[in-house]
Amino acid sequence: MVLKKAIVATLLFSSVTAFASKGEEIFKKCAICHGLNGDKKSLNVSEKIAGWSADKVIKTLHGYKDGDINKYGFGKMMMGQATKLDDKQTQIVAKFVEELKPKKVQKEMKDRHIGSEELKYNAFLKDYFKKNRSGTTKEAKLLWKKHLLEEGK
Ligand code: HEC
Repeated sequence: MVLKKAIVATLLFSSVTAFASKGEEIFKKCAICHGLNGDKKSLNVSEKIAGWSADKVIKTLHGYKDGDINKYGFGKMMMGQATKLDDKQTQIVAKFVEELKPKKVQKEMKDRHIGSEELKYNAFLKDYFKKNRSGTTKEAKLLWKKHLLEEGK
């Protein structure tokens, strides 16, 4: 009986941590444009999404996925982002956005350090999407790899 309780506790605990890290994992991709805390105006146009209700995020992501939203002219690009997530992942990342509390997350993320290479890539990606409104992350990645090769890395 004691053993059973311990197993249940372990299961509960591990599923909670898996959930948290996954939302964070998914959001890493979003953070490139929306900021680590979701508190940046993406490409200087979007609203700051930190603290949006999960419902609102889910609805918005579905809207982009279906091609129904194009608020600032970057709808196609967000469609590319939203399409990569299945319904479950959409819910998980939405919950994560809802729970984004600027200071706490900032500290956690800072503790983990982002490599300067990643920051450079983020800057490159932003620049790319500014010039190519209908560009794709896939193409941007290829261009970035090419750029690294040219730099002799
Ligand atoms: C390459 C940059 C980029 C990435 C990566 C990205 N977004 Fe966006 N996001 C934008 C831009 C630009 C807009 C504004 C689109 C438009 O014109 O409607 C936007 C809009 C949004 C909005 C609506 C904001 C508003 O002002 O109405 C939400 C919510 C959102 N993104 C969530 C996400 C989530 C969640 C992810 C990760 C799965 C993500 N985004 C990844 C650039 C990005």
